[in-house]
Amino acid sequence: MCGIVGYIGNREVSGVLVDGLKRLEYRGYDSCGVAIIDEGRPKVIRSVGRIGELEEKIRLTNPTNGSVKCGIGHTRWATHGRPSETNSHPHRDCTGRFYVAHNGIIENYLYLKHRLVVEGHVFATETDTEVLPHLIESYYDGDLEEAVRRALGDVEGVYGIVVISSEGDGRKIVAARNGPPLVVGVGSGENFVASDVPALLPYTRNVVFLQDGEIAIVSSDSFQIKNSQGECMCRPAETINWTAEMAEKERYAHFMLKEIYEQPRAIRDTLRGRIGENDTVTLSSELHNAAIFAGVERLQIVGMGTSLNAAQVGKFLIESLARVPVDIDNASEFRYRDPIIAPKSLVIGITQSGETADTLAAMKEAREKGAFLLSICNVVGSQAARQSDAVLYTHAGPEIGVASTKAFTTQLTALYLLALELAQLRQTLPAHEIQRHVRQLREVPDQIQKILDQSQGIAELGERFCRYSDFLYLGRGINFPIAMEGALKLKEISYIHAEGYTAGEMKHGPIALIDSEMPVVVLAPQDAVYRKTMGNVEEVKVRDGIVIAVATEHDREISQKADYTIYIPDADPLVNPILATIPLQLFAYHIATLRGCDVDKPRNLAKSVTVE
Ligand code: M6R
Repeated sequence: MCGIVGYIGNREVSGVLVDGLKRLEYRGYDSCGVAIIDEGRPKVIRSVGRIGELEEKIRLTNPTNGSVKCGIGHTRWATHGRPSETNSHPHRDCTGRFYVAHNGIIENYLYLKHRLVVEGHVFATETDTEVLPHLIESYYDGDLEEAVRRALGDVEGVYGIVVISSEGDGRKIVAARNGPPLVVGVGSGENFVASDVPALLPYTRNVVFLQDGEIAIVSSDSFQIKNSQGECMCRPAETINWTAEMAEKERYAHFMLKEIYEQPRAIRDTLRGRIGENDTVTLSSELHNAAIFAGVERLQIVGMGTSLNAAQVGKFLIESLARVPVDIDNASEFRYRDPIIAPKSLVIGITQSGETADTLAAMKEAREKGAFLLSICNVVGSQAARQSDAVLYTHAGPEIGVASTKAFTTQLTALYLLALELAQLRQTLPAHEIQRHVRQLREVPDQIQKILDQSQGIAELGERFCRYSDFLYLGRGINFPIAMEGALKLKEISYIHAEGYTAGEMKHGPIALIDSEMPVVVLAPQDAVYRKTMGNVEEVKVRDGIVIAVATEHDREISQKADYTIYIPDADPLVNPILATIPLQLFAYHIATLRGCDVDKPRNLAKSVTVE
């Protein structure tokens, strides 16, 4: 939540900041701003709404003409203080010498604000962040780094911050992290700071991830990272293998659409290097301690949103292939129920971003209770990856659309691989069965492509249904989480009310909602519960409900009962969830675009939810 960018070097600073903010806009987009120090003179430009409006304001202001330029920018997802120009970051002190952009929450800000007001500071905004520049002002004694360090000593809460000052020669950025991510981008004669790697990709792929408690002092030709005791940390830059193009929309109208279409490639990348000769699964080097996985007696998976839906599918995969009991927890609830972590338990955190505060807190709780931690994560070097004993990267590439698409199907693929690895280690499946599953997984990218090639039909269906205001999604067994995911996609990007239920649950309440105004999306691939699901289709039909079925190709029976049928390739029941997800993503996408919604940046949402 909230995107931060900082730049120091010879480029036109406002251009770099605006470009970086555009690439981070998925993190928050209710207001934005930049502060620039140009030859010692501070300039602040802020705007409510999208970065385009800020860009226009900057164009009219033409803020820089000096040589070495330094600036910070921020795109906001409001927590304290409604979205307004006044509440937009960067915030300043009373004297206009110190500027701060902040991602996170200062939990004791009311106490600090009161103290600072008594000391004579004048506040201009409703935000928690504004205490920071005032604290820095009160501690400043000629050394910005020291003032930031002392200010942060007073603060309780989480933060990623960048600070600049017009004091001295104004040629440094001080950045600090406790919770929300920050990464230093290392250039030649220029350096960068950002909340996330996509902001840096056009300029550098050499990065240093800040860790909690660290402060970075960044100038145009050097950077230093210090720990909380002020000791220098000599961490070399690492090179990211994402390219700038990966974070561009290219020919697609939206990032979400691009990311839907990237799924065949993304899943190939998830599988790459993880399948050995004779179609065995070769994850053990990534799991670090194969003995722990071989001896595991219970698995606990935590996640939020789409990642939680992936966890639910993972339960089916792992229990059916590796015969280990799996519990699933909504990460935001996990630590508040004093969870029991038995010996020989393994805890898995699933998170695309690796930044979700609830998931990180649940993982921390599990770690404190002695669990071995595995994360299934997309962002290399993220907090979740760093706080885990082992990481299974999904390798989906940057996901910019706020609605998760390729992250989900690659999570399912990674979970399938993990289930097979566990089955191998625990010898719960014969080799030929493992090989059969591996061969099926190899076919998935082509099967997805086949569905994508028929997307015109799904677009037409979107047109037919875009004016309805309520939807039910039903699924059974391993496809119940896909019903949840389908409903989540539709509601978050089109603002249509949609609910996911187990098909068996319908009779216990939701059936009262069924009438001719209630389309029901039914996941009905041919599997062990197909007949039961067909029964539910009948129940909807006799109550005048409209059924849109997602079914296995060549299934004529369902097409006679359902009003509309979307076919997916004939596949093993354990593969169906991956395939059935694709039409639901496209359906939601087309409905949302037809309703004029901003699918990449739905209202009130942010890509990474870094506050609890
Ligand atoms: O980065 P994470 O996977 O931890 O994010 C979890 C959820 O915030 C995320 O999946 C959210 O539900 C998406 N908007 C769903 O499309």
